[in-house]
Amino acid sequence: MARDGCAQVPEGPGHVKDRMQVETTATLRGMECVDLTEVVSGDGAGREQAGLRIARSLERCGAVVVQDPRVRAELNDAYCDMMQRYFAQSAECKMRDARPELNFQLGVTPEYTERARDNSEYIAALSAEDRPVAATRGLDPKWRFFWRPGASDNVVPAAFEAEWRNTMDEWGFKLQDTMMLVSSLLAVGLGAEQDTFERMLQGGPHLLAPTGSDLFEIGQKMAKLGKDEALASPLPLAGFHYDLNFLTAHGKSTHGGLYIWTREGKRVPVSVPPGGVLLQAGIQLEILTAGRIQRGYHEVIALPEVVQRVVRECAENRACGWRVSSTVFGHIRSDQVLEPIEVCAQEEAASRYPPVQAAVQVLRELESIQLAPSDPVS
Ligand SMILES: [Fe+2]
Repeated sequence: MARDGCAQVPEGPGHVKDRMQVETTATLRGMECVDLTEVVSGDGAGREQAGLRIARSLERCGAVVVQDPRVRAELNDAYCDMMQRYFAQSAECKMRDARPELNFQLGVTPEYTERARDNSEYIAALSAEDRPVAATRGLDPKWRFFWRPGASDNVVPAAFEAEWRNTMDEWGFKLQDTMMLVSSLLAVGLGAEQDTFERMLQGGPHLLAPTGSDLFEIGQKMAKLGKDEALASPLPLAGFHYDLNFLTAHGKSTHGGLYIWTREGKRVPVSVPPGGVLLQAGIQLEILTAGRIQRGYHEVIALPEVVQRVVRECAENRACGWRVSSTVFGHIRSDQVLEPIEVCAQEEAASRYPPVQAAVQVLRELESIQLAPSDPVS
């Protein structure tokens, strides 16, 4: 009922809470959940210990979960609720917010636009039970919205003028602050000066980047398949990939479905606890640490049992059938040269990471996932 136009956006608390518990599997595989309450209280206590745990977790799993007392679950819920109402608008309405001339780096990116880059070599080396749901490079069926917290040139959707900027900025800055704090603790944990990464991140093109996937519509398609076929068909919402930035901070999504790969190539389901933040390493962090921390591969899938539950529970309010993610991409400043930092420069793999300007590295990655046109000359 809410899909016909901008004016029919349903109000109210829409989203279905993810009922999965904190990830026990991921913890078993060496992923840490670090409580930053003591660190945030400001007396400096616990910084070194927290930094060591964050570094260890990122080295083993490419990811770490933190509890930051500044990140409140209610704020995440309010943000997810607004994003569900936004994505529930018609495609025509949402496309008014698309900026293809900016490589979709502001405003909305339509479904079936992004294509995960070719990681077939990595996938081929995985054991059969650790392969992603979709090993081929299909186009992702997810919508996305890019928002630069605090920037004046952002796209504000017409039907949301009263609430959009405040909600996006408030939540975006919360996740950004956590990402910055974790970056300073990580530097300590790696044995570097604590502002090593923060200095490079200041002024970076950080993005709040919620994704939206219509689980209700996917459920209708699955229903046509027949039960057995549908249950055997988990659907990739975001194909197997790594992130092109430094650290990605995930608040809790509405319906779960995130899987990550550990350093050993083990596929692990992850659910972010209420008020928690999952941070995953992007390739910029791999370059800066000369591979001591490696890019974190991941995929997002719609499990048939989740989709079936959504179809049952959201027949009346279609907005709550949208899976919304709660994500900030932390980026190194564009003019910064990416190369191994001093404490990692002696790593065996350091020569594999020749210096590259962050702006150039990002553009190459955008070309490979089809968000920027390829340079016909190179
Ligand atoms: Fe990602």
